[in-house]
This record gives sequence, C-alpha cells and structure tokens, in this order.
Amino acid sequence: MYICLCNAVTEKDIHQAVCEGACSMRDLRQQLGVASQCGRCATCAKAVLDQEMQHAKVVQYPMHQHPRPALKQAV
Ligand code: FES
Repeated sequence: MYICLCNAVTEKDIHQAVCEGACSMRDLRQQLGVASQCGRCATCAKAVLDQEMQHAKVVQYPMHQHPRPALKQAV
C-alpha cells in the first residue's frame, strides 16, 4: 500500500528502511522523502514506522532473550 503518494513510498519501502537502520521520521524523510512535500502522509508514515519498530524489537529480542533489569531478591 502506498503511504506517501508524492514520493511513491510504500509500506514495504518503510519496512526495508527500518531493516536498514531507520528509526525516526527524520530518517524516513532523508532516505525516502516521506513527508517532504505536501506532508499528508506524515501521520500514516509515523504509524507504519512505529509498527515496524515494534516488530523489529520483537525480532531482535525474542521473549526468552529480552534484556531485563536484574530482579532484587527478597532477603
Ligand atoms: S503524500 Fe507524502 S509528502 Fe505528500
């Protein structure tokens, strides 16, 4: 699905950008041109970015490997 019509950026393009290290709207704007013209795509692009970032965290840190702060032991 197209997210940014002005620059023909799709959801897949944003997914790829996140896989390559993009983690902010600024990154998407620099790499893909998202929200650099009319700006109407900004809200939707941010939602897709947040979704992709959440997915990237789950893939990077599966539940059994997620870094957690050490638990205090009851004395
Ligand atoms: S739709 Fe993205 S800048 Fe216009």
